[in-house]
Amino acid sequence: MSAKIKRIGVLTSGGDAPGMNPCIRAVVRTGLFNNCEVIGIRDGYAGLLSGSFEVLEARQVGGIIQRGGTMLGTARSPEMYEEAGQRAALQALRQHEIDGLIVIGGDGSMRGGLALAERGVPVVGIPGSIDNDMWGTNMAIGVDTALNTLCDAIDKLRDTASSHRRAFLVETMGRNCGYLALMAGVIGGAEVILIPEAPSTIEKVAEALVGAYQRGKTHSIVVVSEGSNIKVAELAQHLEELGVGFSTRMTILGHIQRGGRPSAFDRLLATRLGVKAVDALLAGHSNVMVGLRGRDIDLVPLADVVSRQREANLEYYEMAKMLAF
Ligand code: F6P
Repeated sequence: MSAKIKRIGVLTSGGDAPGMNPCIRAVVRTGLFNNCEVIGIRDGYAGLLSGSFEVLEARQVGGIIQRGGTMLGTARSPEMYEEAGQRAALQALRQHEIDGLIVIGGDGSMRGGLALAERGVPVVGIPGSIDNDMWGTNMAIGVDTALNTLCDAIDKLRDTASSHRRAFLVETMGRNCGYLALMAGVIGGAEVILIPEAPSTIEKVAEALVGAYQRGKTHSIVVVSEGSNIKVAELAQHLEELGVGFSTRMTILGHIQRGGRPSAFDRLLATRLGVKAVDALLAGHSNVMVGLRGRDIDLVPLADVVSRQREANLEYYEMAKMLAF
């Protein structure tokens, strides 16, 4: 165990994800169990730069295990991409005598962590992002809850779609990664899935919908990832003009996907990752992210996490296409 770590800072950064709260709880209580002081840093790196720090006690993280969002607040902090911002962050950590930092967030947040680790601060990252685009973990915190939300939304849309014999175009989040859309398409029984990893054309989508209509389907669901080469509004307009049998409607699910009570899976994952992150920091590890690999929680170098992007597995794409018949 590292003798040096006595004060641990923890922050959540980037887009929030359901499960960040149980993760903060696990970090705080594991730190306290190991006789460390845990300092919560508000609003991600922005709070680090503005000195928004508070000591977190066990009771302050009580009653948050079931809550979505993040009790610490979060922000996107472009300052951390600049040297000046990184130097200021380092100084703030030194000033508040933080011996080690735990960063819960997505890819951009891990970049900030890497920059600080390279300047000598022990940093351990925890993956939290609904996009599931991060290298080094099978699942990030929040993905499972977001998928459950998507599943519920698609089920509801299918009810109304069937009643009116309509095609619903459903846009999911995911930035440049098609994971959410692809999995939502599989579990929602979509007729068509559009993801950045498999560019398509409006004509191909129209053909698939005409086929579904002619085979007697009462509805069609088209799941469109926000990063897809075909944008949902453009698709809706063209399908109406082309005429595919079904009339069409479009739903952009947006930030609904980021909210809600964390699922059982996310609570468990967040808890395991939080405990492991503190253990890793106390054992002297730095410049790593904790990630789910198989059934285990492993350490992955932050440099690997930020230099690679996880892409959607196209086997699922082919599977969904086959099953859409
Ligand atoms: O990274 C999570 C995410 O929800 C993406 O899926 C989406 O593109 C982006 O964040 C939206 O960001 P914001 O909440 O800043 O609008």
